Parts: sequence; structure tokens; C-alpha cells
Amino acid sequence: MITLPENATILITGGAGFIGSHVVRLFVNKYPKYKIVNLDLLTYAGNLENLTDVENADNYTFVKADICDALQMNEVFATYNPDAVIHLAAESHVDRSIEDPLAFVNTNVLGTLHLLNACRKFWRDNFDSKRFYHISTDEVYGSLGETGFFTETTSYDPNSPYSASKAASDHFVRAYGETYGLPIVITNCSNNYGPNQFPEKLIPLFINNIIERKPLPVYGDGNYTRDWLYVVDHAVAIDEVFHRGANGETYNIGGWNEWKNIDLVRVLCKLMDEKLGRESGDSESLITFVKDRPGHDKRYAIDASKIQKELGWKPSVTFEQGLAETIDWYLNNEEWLSNVTSGNYREYYNSMYSDR
Ligand code: NAD
Ligand code: TYD
Repeated sequence: MITLPENATILITGGAGFIGSHVVRLFVNKYPKYKIVNLDLLTYAGNLENLTDVENADNYTFVKADICDALQMNEVFATYNPDAVIHLAAESHVDRSIEDPLAFVNTNVLGTLHLLNACRKFWRDNFDSKRFYHISTDEVYGSLGETGFFTETTSYDPNSPYSASKAASDHFVRAYGETYGLPIVITNCSNNYGPNQFPEKLIPLFINNIIERKPLPVYGDGNYTRDWLYVVDHAVAIDEVFHRGANGETYNIGGWNEWKNIDLVRVLCKLMDEKLGRESGDSESLITFVKDRPGHDKRYAIDASKIQKELGWKPSVTFEQGLAETIDWYLNNEEWLSNVTSGNYREYYNSMYSDR
């Protein structure tokens, strides 16, 4: 639980990205008295087009800055004097982390440390009514077999450079809580899907490829399992934990919604055929099994009963609803999609997929 001033300033990092933009929208609309400062470097994954509906709101400010730049973080804290931080800025794609692990250490580990240091410095180790909320992933727990779930006490066992960098950042956040008394809270969430997700992750990449009738590159045999959560439900969970979560605690967030990749892709193909008025089976014929991802985690599954019991949160959107809304969003936002898939995206796609 946190008691914030009515007119609190909340610094949200990574607010131009996929999940961050949904969190910014929720906070700007739901809390008109808060000042929401969105700090984002606008990397390939950051896109201010995600926020056109709130960009002119009185309680919203955008700052282009790099969490890896300690001086810039000091300037931002000196200028805006935030009461709390919700930290989402990160490098977030596993395949990119396999190509360039150092970029992930820089942003996810060192960037997080610069923010933690700025909190200590500007809050002068007086943390009354302050909060540092770190957004993390279930991937820090490693991989499950056929059964079982990740709980908040599951040991960390990351397998990819991405999950290793997120695990390291989680450890530092917790260490700042223990060592300096910084009031921290951490959530570890399962795979998100929904509007505004950059088409490098499974669902938007496959939607885009189906639209363009390009092959659908399923890694390995496709028998890998993920637990999928609609991004708006994640944003609601973040709101609950931010305001009502206990200091020093971790909460797992998940959708109770496990799918093998190949089954999910088949459902997606069927829905896309219906929406695009194509013959049944058209999109499925695009499925191509390709070389597996190295170190590919077999299964993630979240036990989200702690957040449900303690904060009353549970997912509100079924997978059928969420997937249909997601597909509709991509079909209705062709310009967004073509803007993000032009230029550098083509290079990325060729380098990632041409030799699979
Ligand atoms: P994203 O890649 O869509 O967005 C990341 C944002 O961070 C972008 O706007 C980018 O410009 C910004 N950013 C990157 N480096 C920066 C820097 N040095 N300084 C300032 N801003 C920078 O990521 P996402 O999917 O929205 O994930 C957000 C957070 O949630 C991440 O911490 C991720 O680990 C975590 N998470 C994601 C998922 C998922 O399924 N996408 C699931 C669980 C947890
Ligand atoms: P992704 O969306 O990259 O999320 P994560 O690796 O963080 O879980 O991938 C989800 C699953 O889909 C994962 O098992 C890898 C698989 N996948 C493919 O089969 N093909 C692809 O082109 C991509 C991007 C992912």
C-alpha cells in the first residue's frame, strides 16, 4: 500500500513501448490529478503513435531520455521531482538478446541501476510516500516441464540473455530495498499480447505475415508453451500493485491461459481467414517449421493466485475476445503497421529469419 499525494508525479519509463503505452493511457485517463511523465528513448520499439489519444492531456508529459545516461536521469529527477517510478523501459525481445547480449545488460541492468541511484539521490534516502515499481517477466524463473507453475518463491533460473538481464535487474531492485530501504515492488508477468505490440513477437509478427501472405516461421516443432495475458489486463494489474501492493513484495501476474505455439498459431490462422474473407486453410498453409531458437524455454506457466487473493485482480478478457480485438486492431491500423515495418524492420527480418 502506498499513500501518495493527490497530485503526485509518476515517472513511467518505457511508456512509448507496448505495455508502457497501455499503462500510460490507463493512468492519464484514470488519475487526472496525477502528473504522468513518460520517459522513453524511442528505440525501434518505442513509438509515440501509440499515445496519440492522450498526448495533449494536461496531466501528461513526454521526455525523450536514456535510462543508461546517469546525468540525464539526474536532470529528469531534478526537473520533475517524481514521487514514484513505474519502470518498464527495457530491451524486451529474446531473439535480439541472443544476437546482442550486451545491449540487454546495458539497458536492463545498468539502466535500472541508474534509475535506482537517481531515486536514492533525489529522495535523499527519505522514502516516505515513495515507490519504485519494477516490471519484470516470468522468464526469470526459467523453464517448466509438462506440469507445475511458477510461484513467487520459485528459484530464479534464467536461460536467455534477455531473462538473465531481467533476473539481474530484479536482484538489484530487491537489493536496494533490503540495503537502502527503498520501497520497492516487483511483478513478474507472463507473455502479453494486444494492440501496439511491435511485430517481432509471435502474435503480431504472425498477424503481419498473414496479411502479407508471408511464411509463418514456427520455431522447432512448435510444442513450446506460453501463458498469454491481454495487455490491458496487465495494465490494470500494474495499477492495483502500484497503489495497493505491499513494499518489498513480488507478485506474479498471468492469464491462466496456456497455449502450445502451434495450437495458438492454428487458431490465429483460422480467425484471420474469417476476418480477411479468405478460404479456410489459406493462412495455415503458410506455416513453416524453421530452425529452433537456441536455449528455447519449453514451458512458462504462472500461478497468479497471490495477486488474486491479496489484491483481488484476475484477468477480465478471455483469450477468444482478446485475440479477436488484437486482430481487429492490426487490421484497422494499417498505417501504424506499415510505419513500423518499413525501413529497419526489413533488415531485422532478413537477418533474423533468412538463415533459419
Ligand atoms: P517494448 O520493447 O515494447 O518497449 C520497451 C520500451 O522501452 C520502448 O518504448 C523503448 O523505446 C524503451 N526503451 C528501451 N531502452 C531504453 C532506454 N535506454 N531508455 C529509455 N527508454 C528505453 O517492451 P514491452 O513488451 O512493452 O515490455 C515492457 C516491460 O515489461 C519490459 O521491462 C519487459 O521486460 C516486461 N515484460 C514484457 C512482457 C511481454 O510479453 N511483452 C511480459 C512480461 C514482462
Ligand atoms: P515471443 O513472442 O518471442 O516471446 P517469448 O520468447 O518471450 O516467450 O515468442 C513466443 C513463442 O513463440 C516462443 O516459444 C518462441 C515462438 N516463436 C516462433 O515460433 N516463431 C517466431 O517467429 C517468434 C518470434 C516466436
